[in-house]
Amino acid sequence: MKDQRILLIISGGIAAYKSLELIRRLREQGATVRCILTQAATEFVTPLSVAALSAQPVYTEIFSLKDESEMGHIRLSREADLVVVAPATGDILAKMVLGIADDLATATLLATNRPVLVAPAMNVHMWHNPATQRNIAQLQKDGVTIVGPAEGPLADGEFGPGRVVEPPVLVEAIRGKLAGLAADDSSAPLRGARVLVTSGPTHEAIDPVRYIANRSSGKQGHAIAAALARLGAQVTLVAGPTQEPNPPGVQTVAVESASQMLAACQAALPTDIAIFAAAVADWRVAEASGDKIKKGATAPSLHLVENPDILATIATAGPRRPKLVIGFAAETDTLIDNARSKLARKNCDWIVANSVARGAVFGQADNLVHLVTASGVEDWPRLSKEEVAERLARRVTDWMKTSGNKDAG
Ligand code: CTP
Repeated sequence: MKDQRILLIISGGIAAYKSLELIRRLREQGATVRCILTQAATEFVTPLSVAALSAQPVYTEIFSLKDESEMGHIRLSREADLVVVAPATGDILAKMVLGIADDLATATLLATNRPVLVAPAMNVHMWHNPATQRNIAQLQKDGVTIVGPAEGPLADGEFGPGRVVEPPVLVEAIRGKLAGLAADDSSAPLRGARVLVTSGPTHEAIDPVRYIANRSSGKQGHAIAAALARLGAQVTLVAGPTQEPNPPGVQTVAVESASQMLAACQAALPTDIAIFAAAVADWRVAEASGDKIKKGATAPSLHLVENPDILATIATAGPRRPKLVIGFAAETDTLIDNARSKLARKNCDWIVANSVARGAVFGQADNLVHLVTASGVEDWPRLSKEEVAERLARRVTDWMKTSGNKDAG
């Protein structure tokens, strides 16, 4: 959600306090959050706490000289990627349906040309009231996304649907909506492109409880999948075990071992592009024990066999080979030479080479990489893994424009 701008309209209900956590979580994901509070909302949360959490001025009144001079409701409504109403009371939903604009929140909703997502919160009888149900149906027809309400005990002691969805669920819905908007955007430069990305480590079982693994966090591969999806690509992410959340708008296939990763990659073909960021274990135990190995007089010895090379297999897949195949090279020494020989040996088009000397990369936020292609080496500056992902996604976009329908070069 980096660099995404969200206009959050908080209307007056007991659930308004949850918007504070929503703001915090959205900002943690890199979004800028501007807030409008209705008059009733200020009875439940103070503009001061909303301003402190959002680190932005808070807007409350349509005729406030100060608000209007700094930012009118038209600008507020336009300078957002998404307008979110949370919590949305029955009253504000009804006003949205009728186009009533009698305060800053509703005037902004009437003026906006941006997509709108609402998270209703009200008493169960208010929710079931035919008027609310009519309004919800109309809002859906008008293209508004409705998230929730959730079911459970309500503040007034009753039980049923009416609770605003919890902040983590709402954050996911917002992420999904933003990713969907990117994919629907016909100007999205990678619209229509199919991409396979591998990410994370693999776990190779020794017995049911032990495994061989490595220090890969999956941060880089996941960031690449997310960056490509933001540009409109249709991305399949084959991910080994990681703590990273599934990127929004990406089809994620979770695997454990190298063999499973290869099978999932082959199942994802055909694609136009394939990017292999996973740190695949080079070896697996020839025969993993079905039972937990017990301690004995002597330590067991493990017979290792080589894993399939997923990148090399896909890069030599004949007619099913993606047109652009990008590998990673994690090296501790003679970085560029090793990357060049990997480029040839694995039959790939580009190699993103990074130094892993002294564990410099694994789990870290940034990365120092070089892009090695047949035509030369580009030295990139030290960048965050998100920035590396963005830059690689832009390079892929350039490639699509110039040689997407010819050979990779
Ligand atoms: N790779 C793969 N399958 C493997 C091993 C590696 O797909 N079994 C891919 C990685 O995802 C990466 C590239 O190959 O894109 C290079 O990985 P790296 O670990 O640097 O190379 P290795 O093949 O292990 O070669 P070496 O041991 O010589 O460094």
